[in-house]
Amino acid sequence: MLPVKALITGSGGLIGSACVEFLCSEGWSVVGVDNDTRSQLFGPGGSTAKTVVTLVDRHSSYKHVSLDVRDRQGVRDLFEVERPQFVIHTAAQPSHDLAASVPYTDFDINAVGTLNLLVATRDFCRDSPFCFTSTNKVYGDRPNFIPIHELDKRFDYADGREGIDEKLSIDSCLHSLFGASKVAADVLCQEFGRYFQMPVGVFRGGCLTGAHHAAVQLHGYLNYIVRCAVTGQPYTIFGFKGKQVRDQIHARDVASLFLHFYREPRPGEVYNLGGGRSNSISILETIDALAVRGLKLDYTYQDENRVGDHICYISDLSKLRAHYPNWRMEYTLDRILDEIVGALGASKATA
Ligand SMILES: NC(=O)c1ccc[n+]([C@@H]2O[C@H](COP(=O)([O-])OP(=O)(O)OC[C@H]3O[C@@H](n4cnc5c(N)ncnc54)[C@H](O)[C@@H]3O)[C@@H](O)[C@H]2O)c1
Repeated sequence: MLPVKALITGSGGLIGSACVEFLCSEGWSVVGVDNDTRSQLFGPGGSTAKTVVTLVDRHSSYKHVSLDVRDRQGVRDLFEVERPQFVIHTAAQPSHDLAASVPYTDFDINAVGTLNLLVATRDFCRDSPFCFTSTNKVYGDRPNFIPIHELDKRFDYADGREGIDEKLSIDSCLHSLFGASKVAADVLCQEFGRYFQMPVGVFRGGCLTGAHHAAVQLHGYLNYIVRCAVTGQPYTIFGFKGKQVRDQIHARDVASLFLHFYREPRPGEVYNLGGGRSNSISILETIDALAVRGLKLDYTYQDENRVGDHICYISDLSKLRAHYPNWRMEYTLDRILDEIVGALGASKATA
């Protein structure tokens, strides 16, 4: 039997590369699309070029295409030739904070790039399941309207809720330009699911993480804070007393979920995707968890928070688990932290 073919955009990035690794290990052939736009957005420290080299070296079933998702005709030509059975779209300008200084670039990549992929999928492989990595920033700062209470090291929801589900409105709140461009892409994906009855799934990520994140100050919380602790680089906490909470999910668990969606796709469905309550952690708790691992973080506190930043965000995974009961999250918070600490410690030792 011929291997099944997936096309993955952003294949050098955290989620894209995890999806390549996962699908190749499952016997798929994969076409990866990434032109290292990340190094233009974040500078050389944000480049994902090395990851692409590793993927090409490691997997004979991986083919790399250095194409910009903004290149509409290039995307159409690629889809016409490849006609993949599965599309995972992760290429993005991923930073909330950076978007305001590059508004055209942000919208062109996130919204228009997504439209290019959706139309090419519709025209050349319309029955192929399509996973879109949206973001919890589509809810803007609305999660901050939920009453919270303050604990010793974190905030939590005062009404006892497990987390935030998909019923939260995405309307009438502060999104950041990044949130707005992702809303456009998110709604486009839903529309291709509903209007054209295509198997498109929208996954609104919280903190997606892993050792391979090319994290920078403005994007990639957990990996960046661990890197600061490992290298002795100073870290700045922006507001909320360091008690802001995020739930963390490992990139490999995201990749395995997408395969579940491929097998049982639901047109236009939206899911919140994160580590859930058991994988949630605040900055102060992260500092403690690093200390337990022998790492001392050199940090300062700045009272002003990042614009539109969430005070407490924990994904409610009920819908996801109900639709995909056989999907299991394999990475606990401790396992994620151990992996990142190990990988960054090892790379420091060889530097
Ligand atoms: N990592 C997170 O915490 C997180 C949270 C929520 C949502 N998401 C979403 O998940 C997706 C993947 O995130 P990530 O952390 O893997 O990002 P990443 O920055 O690690 O990877 C994105 C990749 O896309 C590539 N890329 C960017 N623009 C491109 C373009 N125009 N053409 C071709 N390639 C391009 C980059 O070079 C990079 O390798 C994004 O859509 C992001 O918005 C991520």
